[in-house]
Amino acid sequence: MGYLLGIDIGTSGTKTCLFCYNGELVTSAYAEYPMLQPQVGWAEQHPEDWWIAARQTIQMIFKQSKINPSDIKGIGLSGQMHGLVLLDRDGKVLRPAIIWCDQRTGKQVEWMRDSIGTERIIDLTSNTPLPNYTASKLLWVRDNEPNIYEKIHKVLLPKDYIRYKLTQEFATEVSDASGTLLLNVASRTWSSEMVELLGFEKKWLPEVRESNQISGTVSKLAAMETGLSEGTAVVGGAGDQAAGAVGNGIVKAGVISASIGTSGVVFASTDEIKKDPLGRLHSFCHAVPGKWHVMGVTQAAGGSLQWFRNHFGIAEMELAKTLQKNVYDIFTEKAMMVKPGCEGLVFLPYLMGERTPHLDSFAKGTFVGITSRHGKEHFIRSIMEGVAFSLKDCLSLIDDLKVANSEIRISGGGANSLLWRQIFADVFNQRIHRIHANEGPAFGAALLAGVGTNVYSSVEEACSQTVQYYDSVEPNGEFVERYENYYTIYKELYFNLYETFASLHKLAVR
Ligand code: XUL
Repeated sequence: MGYLLGIDIGTSGTKTCLFCYNGELVTSAYAEYPMLQPQVGWAEQHPEDWWIAARQTIQMIFKQSKINPSDIKGIGLSGQMHGLVLLDRDGKVLRPAIIWCDQRTGKQVEWMRDSIGTERIIDLTSNTPLPNYTASKLLWVRDNEPNIYEKIHKVLLPKDYIRYKLTQEFATEVSDASGTLLLNVASRTWSSEMVELLGFEKKWLPEVRESNQISGTVSKLAAMETGLSEGTAVVGGAGDQAAGAVGNGIVKAGVISASIGTSGVVFASTDEIKKDPLGRLHSFCHAVPGKWHVMGVTQAAGGSLQWFRNHFGIAEMELAKTLQKNVYDIFTEKAMMVKPGCEGLVFLPYLMGERTPHLDSFAKGTFVGITSRHGKEHFIRSIMEGVAFSLKDCLSLIDDLKVANSEIRISGGGANSLLWRQIFADVFNQRIHRIHANEGPAFGAALLAGVGTNVYSSVEEACSQTVQYYDSVEPNGEFVERYENYYTIYKELYFNLYETFASLHKLAVR
C-alpha cells in the first residue's frame, strides 16, 4: 500500500493530510499558531511555530493512521505565499517572518516604482510592485534593520523553510517564487536583472524548479523529529493558491476557482501569460509545467469573519463549545435569519488593506448603513456578502482579460457554509460547484508529490484520477437583481472613501 502526504503551512495553522493514491483522505491533523501584529498593518509569524506545527501534525498522522512511515511515497508542501524568512549562515532564523498580509512596505514599493519604473518591472516579472511581495519586505529590512540585512545568507518562503527543516535543502518552485517579484514568470527562472536592480544577491535565493520535481529527501535528523522515514522524497509543491487549484482540478482554461480562506482568491489557469494592464491581478506560473495563472486577491475574506468571531463572537464561541458545534455553523444559522442585502447594511472587507481591485494598503474595513434595527446577525451576513462582492470584483477583472469562464468551483473553509455558497451563486449569478476534496492546498500538494514520484504521469492525470464533484448551488433569480443593486453601491463606496482611509491611516500610525 502506498500513500502521499500533503503539508500546508497556512496563516492560522498547519494542516497535514494523508491520502491514498485514488485521492481518498486517510486522516488529517491540524495545529494552530498566532499571527503577531506589533503595529497597525504589520503581520508576522515565527517560522519555528510552523516547524513545531509541522512536526506535531506529522506525528499525529502516524498516531491516527498507524501506517508504516516507509509506505509514504512522497511529500508535497504548500503554504501561505510571499512571506519573508531570513536565515543566517548557520541556518538560524534572523527575525520573525514578515508575512503575506503585512502592509508596512508602502515606501519601498514607491521606491521601486520611482527608481525602476512599473513598466520595466512588469517587463521583467510580469507583475507590478505591491507591499505583499517578498521583494518589498526585503527592501524594508534593508532600510530599517541594516544589522539584520548584513547577516542574510538565504531568503526563503514559508513552506520552503519547512522543506529546509525536512531535507536541509534550499529550494523552491515556480508558483510560490512568482510571488516574490524576483522571478521572470515568462521564463520560469529567477530574474538576475531584477535581483541586481534591487541590490540583492542572487546567492541568497534557493534553487527554483517546477512544482512537481523532487527537491530533496527527508534527512536523518528530520526523520527522528517527525517519525517520517529517512530518504522519503519531498516534492516542490506549490504556493497555497496554485496547490489549492490543483486540488480542485483547476488545471485547464475555462474552469475558475473562488476560494474563501483567510484571504479570498479568484484563480484561473491559462495556457499563456495574461496580464491586467493596471497590475490589479497577479500573473504567476501555475504548478502545472507550461501553464500560468491569473488571480485576484481579497486580503481579508474568511479573515474578516474570523476577526468578527474573535472580537464579537465570544458568546457564540462558548455556545459552540457547549453544543460541540463549529462556531461558524452558529454564525451561519444567525445570518440565515436576515434577508439578502441585510436591510441596507454593506461591508467593505478591507481590514488588511486591499489588493484586488484596489491596490491600496491604506484601505480600511467599513460597515455602511447601520441602523438601530441591525443586530449581530446582520453584521455576520453583511461580512459574507461584502466578501462575495469583493471576489466579484476579482472575477470581473479576469473576465475583462477574456479568460474563458465555463465553470466556477468554490473551496476553502468558508465554502463549508451552504449560505455563503448560495450568496456567491446569487452575487456571481452563476452556478457554483464544490469538489469532493475539502483539503484544498494539502491535497494539491500531495497530488504534486504523486506526480514527482511517478504515481501519476502528469498533474492533469492526477486530477482526472482523483478530483470528483460533490455538489452545486444554483443562483436564486429573486435575489440576483437585489444583489446587483447592492453591488453598485458597494463599488461606489471605495471611491467615496479612499481619501478618508488614507487620512485615518496617518492618524492611526502617528
Ligand atoms: C496569495 C496570498 C494568499 C496567501 C495566504 O497571493 O497572498 O493567498 O498565500 O493564503
